[in-house]
Amino acid sequence: MSVILVTGGTGLVGKAIQHVIETEPEGSKFGKKPGEKWVFASSSEGDLKDPEQTKKLFEKYKPTHVIHLAALVGGLFANMKYKLTFYRDNTLINDNVLYTSHLFGVKKVISCLSTCVYPDKVEYPLDETKIHLGLPHESNFGYAHAKRMVDVANHAYKDQYGSNFTSAIPTNIFGPHDNFELERAHVIPALIHKCYLAQQNGTPFIIGGTGKPLRQFIYSRDLAKLFIWQLREYDDVEPVILSVGEDEEVSIKQVTDAIVKAMNFTGEYDFDTSRADGQFRKPASNKKLLSLIGEFEFTPFEKALEETVKWFLDNYENARK
Ligand SMILES: NC(=O)c1ccc[n+]([C@@H]2O[C@H](COP(=O)([O-])OP(=O)(O)OC[C@H]3O[C@@H](n4cnc5c(N)ncnc54)[C@H](OP(=O)(O)O)[C@@H]3O)[C@@H](O)[C@H]2O)c1
Repeated sequence: MSVILVTGGTGLVGKAIQHVIETEPEGSKFGKKPGEKWVFASSSEGDLKDPEQTKKLFEKYKPTHVIHLAALVGGLFANMKYKLTFYRDNTLINDNVLYTSHLFGVKKVISCLSTCVYPDKVEYPLDETKIHLGLPHESNFGYAHAKRMVDVANHAYKDQYGSNFTSAIPTNIFGPHDNFELERAHVIPALIHKCYLAQQNGTPFIIGGTGKPLRQFIYSRDLAKLFIWQLREYDDVEPVILSVGEDEEVSIKQVTDAIVKAMNFTGEYDFDTSRADGQFRKPASNKKLLSLIGEFEFTPFEKALEETVKWFLDNYENARK
């Protein structure tokens, strides 16, 4: 019997893994395998900042495998204002999960990093070898350092104990169950919510910046499949970037147009060019992933966005907003 514990199992990525495990045919590539038990834990089952609560969670489920997603995640403003909180909470969560996994003899842990932990000044495209090549951007200094240390810990556990601990590095994620709070949300859920409010109130839909920056977005349900693949097929300590290709970047204007279409938004929309754009591109290479997984079909961006908008409209009352 394998018990796969997904920490942060109630968030955007955790819910997507649950969806894939529960909807793909049993025994298929991404479906549940016979003898597997999947546990999706929220913070109400145990605060992973606390070593005792972490231990209790592991005692309860006795996991053989862990997909570690739980993290204090936030937007630019929160990251800038609460640097120590982002550093400390994430450091505690990660240390407790890895150390408790070690104590309980967990066979494999995959921890989730992020492309925003990369150095501010770095040669693009990002790849798996460049995480530690310079300081992260000052705005997410705390979060980035805490996350980078997971890679350091994974190597140390491997060297000292031979542990099979590794990490995944996704680019920007979106999908059902995202956080749509206007103040805290990432760009896609924030724009979906703004468009919805503009539609409801008959006001213009205003997008901050020029709409020109390019980003790689991964649909949470595609990412979920990649986590399941990594859990079953990948046994190396070095991280893997989980992303669509560099040639699949989309502009914020394309994101806006896709939202307008999916929402059937009939009002006016405009770009507030007085607002900062951020970096024009931050491409990440998915060459390592493709060389290992072979064929993988990513959901076309517009389709994934339509599904996300539909989920938001169908679940408006209960969505995080
Ligand atoms: N969203 C993105 O664009 C993005 C991009 C790259 C990487 N990532 C990484 O992907 C992972 C998952 O992110 P997400 O977007 O799915 O986050 P999310 O929707 O905010 O979910 C966070 C999850 O972590 C849990 N959690 C937070 N603090 C906890 C604590 N102290 N103890 C136990 N559980 C705790 C939450 O539980 P509750 O629901 O009970 O609060 C929730 O299940 C994170 O590691 C994040 O850094 C995200």
